[in-house]
Amino acid sequence: MTEKREYTGEYAEQTLYIPGPTEVRDDVLDAMCEPMFGHRMDQMTDLYTTVVEDTKTFLGTDNDVIVLTASGTEFMESAILNLVDEDVLVTTCGSFSERQANVAERLGKTVDTLEYEWGQAVKPGDVRDALEASETDYDVVTCVMNESSTGVRNPIEEIGDVVADYPETLFVVDAVSALGGDYVDIDEHDIDVIFTSVQKAFAMPPGLAVCVVSDDAYEREVESESASWYGGFQRSLDYYDRKGQTHSTPAIPIMLAYRKQMKHMLEEGHQARDQRHREMAEYTRDWAREHFDVFPEAGYESQTVSCIENTPGLDVAAVIEDVSEEYDMAFSNGYGSTLGGRTFRIGHMGEHTVESIEALTDAIEDVAGL
Ligand SMILES: Cc1ncc(COP(=O)(O)O)c(C=O)c1O
Repeated sequence: MTEKREYTGEYAEQTLYIPGPTEVRDDVLDAMCEPMFGHRMDQMTDLYTTVVEDTKTFLGTDNDVIVLTASGTEFMESAILNLVDEDVLVTTCGSFSERQANVAERLGKTVDTLEYEWGQAVKPGDVRDALEASETDYDVVTCVMNESSTGVRNPIEEIGDVVADYPETLFVVDAVSALGGDYVDIDEHDIDVIFTSVQKAFAMPPGLAVCVVSDDAYEREVESESASWYGGFQRSLDYYDRKGQTHSTPAIPIMLAYRKQMKHMLEEGHQARDQRHREMAEYTRDWAREHFDVFPEAGYESQTVSCIENTPGLDVAAVIEDVSEEYDMAFSNGYGSTLGGRTFRIGHMGEHTVESIEALTDAIEDVAGL
């Protein structure tokens, strides 16, 4: 039984290096403190159309954008509800991609999995083989872009090119923890649905999920007999077309923060943001190789979350605690019981820089006596 623990407000302010939520700029936090307005007022249309169109510009996509009050998991579920009549091929290589399989199973779909050991990446050739070998046309293939549990960056561009050869099959990408910090050309690689949560590489307060939807995905839902209500693509996109608003009351303060942060992201630019994240990832991996090892398969390391193998056998939990107490910095242990003390993870996403990541690695060195 969980007992109440009163929230006191008296907590040390920690710099976040966990794989989300991550650091949020002060002016973005301040943007949330506006007097409230109604979600059917003109002001809301101004806000939501700005948010949607700026996101399209930032991502460089002609596909449609939905910004919904939810966490990213909402689109893991609604993409299946909207697009899968019966068969889905889920590629799995860690906890979040396994969650995608679990979600589809819970929704009663016929789920085939293409499974990889945790730490390995999904290979485009295997996806082609699985599509060739299947007797049914899969409605959807899913892939996680950035397996936050293992620090693997899957080659979704090449996988998208493979799936594009199967016109009846749509490609759905979970890009939570990657989008905004790792460039992807959505339209070029025929990605029908790609979604993220804003508390990751978008560096916003949590509470909104973003989904980019192709015309094919929209049409598939329109033609299908059932779909998600709340996460239905058609409902959100038609409402946007007619009114420039969301179908139900959004988390307005977080949308105000989104507007502010997206302006910063546009100013930096998608390619420059990608480059900054690449530099942070390279720095972190070089540091990791000096003292530890890098967990994911070589050549598939994430640009936003480094999963580091605890080769010296440090007491990871103790190091995390000491860094937190002495330096007010928070980083993550390995994921779940599988990777618990065997690995630890550093989130280098959002507004972080090589310098801010260096401050953390210096703190770890100090505390662990490296
Ligand atoms: C790859 C991936 N997918 C999905 C999720 C779930 O996102 P949310 O907590 O926003 O629902 C996460 C969260 O860390 C993630 O890293």
